[in-house]
Amino acid sequence: MSVQQYIQDHQDRFLQELFELLRIPSVSADSNFQPEVFYAAAFVKKSLENAGADKVEVCETEGFPVVYGEKIIDPAAPTVLVYGHYDVQPADPYALWESPPFEPQVKKTAAHPEGAVFARGAADDKGQFFMHIKAFEALVRQKELPCNVKFMIEGEEEVGSSHLEPFVKQYREKLKADAVLISDTSMISLENPSITVGLRGLAYMEVEVTGPNKDLHSGTFGGAVANPINILCRMIASLQDKDNRITIPGFYDKVEILSDSYRELLNKAPFDESQFKQKLDIAETSGEAGYTTIERTGIRPTLDVNGIWGGYTGLGAKTVLPSKAYAKISMRLVPNQDFNEISALFEKHLKAIAPASVKVKVTTHHGGHPAVISTDSKAYRAAEAAVLEVFGKKAIPTREGGSIPITSLFQKELGVDPILLGFGLDTDAIHSPNEHFGLKNFYMGINTIASFYKHFQKQWINHE
Ligand code: BES
Ligand code: MN
Ligand code: MN
Repeated sequence: MSVQQYIQDHQDRFLQELFELLRIPSVSADSNFQPEVFYAAAFVKKSLENAGADKVEVCETEGFPVVYGEKIIDPAAPTVLVYGHYDVQPADPYALWESPPFEPQVKKTAAHPEGAVFARGAADDKGQFFMHIKAFEALVRQKELPCNVKFMIEGEEEVGSSHLEPFVKQYREKLKADAVLISDTSMISLENPSITVGLRGLAYMEVEVTGPNKDLHSGTFGGAVANPINILCRMIASLQDKDNRITIPGFYDKVEILSDSYRELLNKAPFDESQFKQKLDIAETSGEAGYTTIERTGIRPTLDVNGIWGGYTGLGAKTVLPSKAYAKISMRLVPNQDFNEISALFEKHLKAIAPASVKVKVTTHHGGHPAVISTDSKAYRAAEAAVLEVFGKKAIPTREGGSIPITSLFQKELGVDPILLGFGLDTDAIHSPNEHFGLKNFYMGINTIASFYKHFQKQWINHE
């Protein structure tokens, strides 16, 4: 029996096992779910053991644990490190889910006529790293595993992977690999498979503006005392000019300038602007002048307010001149911006533009560096060959707008460019209500991953 046949014969069980994992509400951002996050780690450990991994352990960190497991078939064989994350985003707002977020169900959608699994984490990232465990199981059971494999599945990606740097540094030898494989990104479509070769970095900031030392009557004091919400809005509005360029001095200093020919190549990827607008129910796209939508999300930095609050937001009306105003602001970064430098520039600028009538406090939540992946490697060629074998098409290299902080950490600490072989679609509603992952994507993903090992080993011995 072939590996492919094994995957087909066991597809229902694979799905049932994924459902079990999806039923665990491992929300890393919310401390109410702390026991469930640990429980998810234990579940991943058991899954790795059942699939045939050795030395499986739940490695403690200062935060949530990293689950490690390996199968060393031959010290001379190439080694592949698989990374994924078992934590998920909060499911809020619950009311907007058509079925409960932690009770997985298969439903059909326009993009997934064969059905998709609806649950928080279905595509980001439980459904995706689980494909790796199942591809590994199939290869082990069929005695066709051609490479050494190491798994590293973490539980803090959605909150910035802040304890991972010491972990990777401490276990650099143990994690040593010839290729790193991550499935936590999207592809253009099943008809147009793609491999992600760029991710943006992130600097996530919080701003607190304080006016008077207590809330005031907006009639008695309004007009004579600065309102911190009005001020904060004005400050935020000034952070972008009429061309949607960011006004923070020095912000663009290190931004990588790409050649016209590279930009042309990027824009050749299949993308339908009118469909994009239609799906989001917007009349017009919006972004930095002089760039296309693909470029605006792929190669240009941004600044977005993620949340803003203060004063009275309850039912009815209350007249108040608030003492404080807050905003959470994130900046997506591109090569060669450094998130620590950008955080510092942001803080300096906000303090500089604040009027004397308010005090401004700026804090950094988390960040991550951008990453660009070379297409000139054995691992990339193996991924291309695997995609070609399973999808029948050459993968298009794309740059995506999201961030996976570990990517640049692996580049720096292990000296390996991770292969971002993701199988989600942009319409899968990750981080949003009704997140889902296509069944076809799931099964084709498992086959592609299994095929990757075969091609990587071939590339390796051929010394191409
Ligand atoms: N899997 C995503 C990143 C992603 C999504 C990459 C879609 C490419 C396409 C990851 O889990 C994520 O959500 N990352 C966060 C950053 C993190 C530091 C909180 C993000 O991009 O907002
Ligand atoms: Mn993810
Ligand atoms: Mn995510």
